[in-house]
Amino acid sequence: MQYDEMKQPVSILVVDDESSIRDLLKEYLSLEGYKVDTAEDGNDAYTYLRKSYYDIVLTDLEMPGMNGIELLEKANTEGLNHKFIILTGFGTVETAIMALKLGAIDYILKPFKLEELGFIIKKAVHRRRLEEENIQLREALSLYQISEAMILNNNIRAVLDLILEKAMHELDADIVILSLKETISKPLITRVLKSSMDITADELESALNKEKIFKRLESERYMNLTGRQIDQIRSGSAMGFDIRSYLSVAVGLRDRFYGALCAFRVKSDMPFTDAQRKLTTIFGERITTLLEVKRSDEGLQHAIIESIESLVKALEAKDPFTKGHSERVSVYAHIVAERLKLDAKTVLNVTQAGRLHDIGKIGIRYDALTKKDGLDKEEYEQFKLHPGIGANILKPMSFLADIIPMILHHHERYDGKGYPDGLEGENIPLGARILAICDSFDVMTSDRPYRSTLPKEKVKSELRSNSGTQFDPKLVTAMLLLLEEGEIPLMKDTFETHTKA
Ligand SMILES: [Fe+2]
Repeated sequence: MQYDEMKQPVSILVVDDESSIRDLLKEYLSLEGYKVDTAEDGNDAYTYLRKSYYDIVLTDLEMPGMNGIELLEKANTEGLNHKFIILTGFGTVETAIMALKLGAIDYILKPFKLEELGFIIKKAVHRRRLEEENIQLREALSLYQISEAMILNNNIRAVLDLILEKAMHELDADIVILSLKETISKPLITRVLKSSMDITADELESALNKEKIFKRLESERYMNLTGRQIDQIRSGSAMGFDIRSYLSVAVGLRDRFYGALCAFRVKSDMPFTDAQRKLTTIFGERITTLLEVKRSDEGLQHAIIESIESLVKALEAKDPFTKGHSERVSVYAHIVAERLKLDAKTVLNVTQAGRLHDIGKIGIRYDALTKKDGLDKEEYEQFKLHPGIGANILKPMSFLADIIPMILHHHERYDGKGYPDGLEGENIPLGARILAICDSFDVMTSDRPYRSTLPKEKVKSELRSNSGTQFDPKLVTAMLLLLEEGEIPLMKDTFETHTKA
């Protein structure tokens, strides 16, 4: 049998309106070891080309209905990448040359000797093989670029986008979607790359039965569907386009399924090849590696943050007056940040910063922190170092980069008279302004060595009278509203009941 380098029989579609020629060519080429289908005219051939891939299309030029040139043009328009060899009589040589200009790789004049045809086909198969090697090199380059990005680029979203871009290109797909389970952090759940079609990611998502796809991929690992088979994964929602070919592979490990990498063709019925499926599986494995690294990083980060929080708690627990202070500041900061409708990541950062904001006190003498009769000048100067010490402690942890400025500036004042840098107004990071007001609020509403908890009205008037000087006026307004609405627990005891609820 005739095989190409991929060890698959070479497939040929013979297109001729004369049945005697079709039969003769089929018999000869089959004996030569090729896998041969025949079509009686251009329309018939077009139906074959949309459904299957052929290494070579051997076509007559003059046929009723769709002729050879029209067939070639249609295949070109739809990106059907078959190699055309033209069969032509003397009278149509000029047309054959036109076919060459349209991308046909060779032509043969009728009448021809079968051996001559055999030679031209072998030449075409060789050319095809070279092209495939070229494709393999290109795929290897894409995979290399992805691996390089995985090593050098810390931005997981950028690397995922690169993988989608490479998948779209290598698979010759019209749409590529990475669809992950909701346990994965939200910004990563759905990523869509599409050629210029008027369709939104939401429309695509709602058109597919995501649960069914996930369930099948968990056991089967991949799906390669065409035509009516695609109904199996539709949700039933109407779509402004038709999915003609669909390929998806599982992302994740056998015991930890993350989701699916899916590719669609909407412009042609050409099924995705097995080689493309294997390549997509490699793309899926790359994504799995990224998510696994992210998972282990997050686990490590979580453990580090928990250790630091334990240190803060231990430090505060030494003194009944400060016990639980950072945890309370964190809860207040969370409530304020949500009221301000900050994005989810900032809310999380501000909350985290609340828990860690006084970590720098670890570097201050204990007796200076717990003195009942106030600090002398030297002690106060030392106390003022704690935001900077805190920022320095956290600096080596790059995953805390967003919250370090909040911690460094949580003792700045809106009027610029705070420390360590005397920043003013909006120059103070918003997270730090939120921490500042929540920090003071907790001091006012907790017992201190030098005074008891302030009554509610006094707390409110303190906030008002320090608006625009110590605190950001917008935050004072938000805090007063939250207090009025009972959204912020006022007393330490009330707070403890509140957080347990
Ligand atoms: Fe502080």
